[in-house]
Amino acid sequence: MSDIAAYSAIETLRDGRRVEIRALRPEDRDDLVAAVGRTSTQSLYRRFFAVKRSFSEQETDFFLNVDFVNHVALVVVADEGGRPAIVGGGRYIVVAPGQAEVAFVVVDAYQRQGVGAALMRHLAAVARGAGLEELIAEVVPDNAPMMKVFEKCGLGVGTRRDAGVVHVTLQLV
Ligand SMILES: CC(C)(COP(=O)(O)OP(=O)(O)OC[C@H]1O[C@@H](n2cnc3c(N)ncnc32)[C@H](O)[C@@H]1OP(=O)(O)O)[C@@H](O)C(=O)NCCC(=O)NCCS
Repeated sequence: MSDIAAYSAIETLRDGRRVEIRALRPEDRDDLVAAVGRTSTQSLYRRFFAVKRSFSEQETDFFLNVDFVNHVALVVVADEGGRPAIVGGGRYIVVAPGQAEVAFVVVDAYQRQGVGAALMRHLAAVARGAGLEELIAEVVPDNAPMMKVFEKCGLGVGTRRDAGVVHVTLQLV
């Protein structure tokens, strides 16, 4: 397994709280399910393009089954009263040589604190380090926060609008 599996960095949120951005681990299963339970229907819709309140065992297996080469996942962990809690995550899946699709979700109570921007920065650094050239994403057209994260991330951004979806490309090289 690649050393991305040991990835860890500390970030400070806008309100001064500190979070760890680290590689997803197999033992995160329960925490991941708990994080979905704390995320609004609108946020889950924007992430999955479907009304989703929970995931089957099979779907959860897919989210946990990362190889850190073709499927890389980072989670954001906050300290909540002495207990670590997953409050966001971002992942990429390689879909073509040199190209991966990215997606993010941040628990609503932690949105607008810079978590999304930090995840973008770390995932882009990991992807570039792995030799990828381009990230792509599919965004619901009214998803202003996600578009803002992409526009501010410092990468070259291209957009193409289709019915019901904006296709985004981000240049890593
Ligand atoms: C998109 C998402 C990941 C961004 O995460 P976040 O932690 O809120 O992002 P940040 O705090 O880094 O904020 C990003 C920017 O969006 C802005 N923003 C946040 N919410 C906004 C809103 N409702 N309307 C307009 N701008 C908004 C922020 O102000 C910030 O801009 P700034 O740096 O100029 O202040 C988060 O909103 C989310 O999980 N959304 C639901 C899932 C989703 O849309 N996934 C995308 C699938 S590709």
